[in-house]
Amino acid sequence: MSSRQRLFRWLYRLGFTPWDGHPLAQSLTNLVEGGTLTPTTALDLGCGTGDNAVYLARHGWHVTGVDYIDKPLAKARAKAGGLPVVFAKADVTQLSSSGVGAGFGLIIDSGCLHGMSAADRDAYVAEVSAVAAPGALLLIVAFIPGGMTGVPGIGFEEVQRRFSAGWTLLSSGDEPAMDHNGANVARFYQFVRNF
Ligand SMILES: C[S@@+](CC[C@H](N)C(=O)[O-])C[C@H]1O[C@@H](n2cnc3c(N)ncnc32)[C@H](O)[C@@H]1O
Repeated sequence: MSSRQRLFRWLYRLGFTPWDGHPLAQSLTNLVEGGTLTPTTALDLGCGTGDNAVYLARHGWHVTGVDYIDKPLAKARAKAGGLPVVFAKADVTQLSSSGVGAGFGLIIDSGCLHGMSAADRDAYVAEVSAVAAPGALLLIVAFIPGGMTGVPGIGFEEVQRRFSAGWTLLSSGDEPAMDHNGANVARFYQFVRNF
């Protein structure tokens, strides 16, 4: 187990999870409720207690939520009821060997990539690319570096560079729903997987 995974396990045990229960990202609700998408399969990376995955399932998506900590996954399963959502224990840096499947039409990340090490970010991009369907949409919501959020953060140039092969950036901008008490430190990035 990595030191970061141990840290998350410890935070969930302590109940110190300030991200839990945050409002849904506007970039997510705009995308899902914008009337341009037909629901297919979705993957929620680092799903935590599952609010985003449950939201997608309520809008007709067949969702897989993955996280590498047991405690939030148990909470997520309790929230899901009879909705079409599966919560699985998996490391997002090892998705293609984790048994979660592939060919996802929509992949979302709310607050997972921005906390990862450089090596894990390398693996993440390769693994996310491997499980995305051609034409899949990828929505990442992440804090910028230096925002006093307690996570390393990731900036526009790095996100763009990391997804420069095989993905096309469709849009990006401020994410007001996760602005960290008005500090405007959250950004969204929407990509499409090239055919
Ligand atoms: C800041 S929380 C965000 C949770 C949720 N997405 C939300 O918006 O509330 C980050 C989550 O990513 C998970 N996570 C971080 N790195 C991961 C990895 N390599 N594989 C799977 N889950 C990971 C953590 O356990 C944690 O639940």
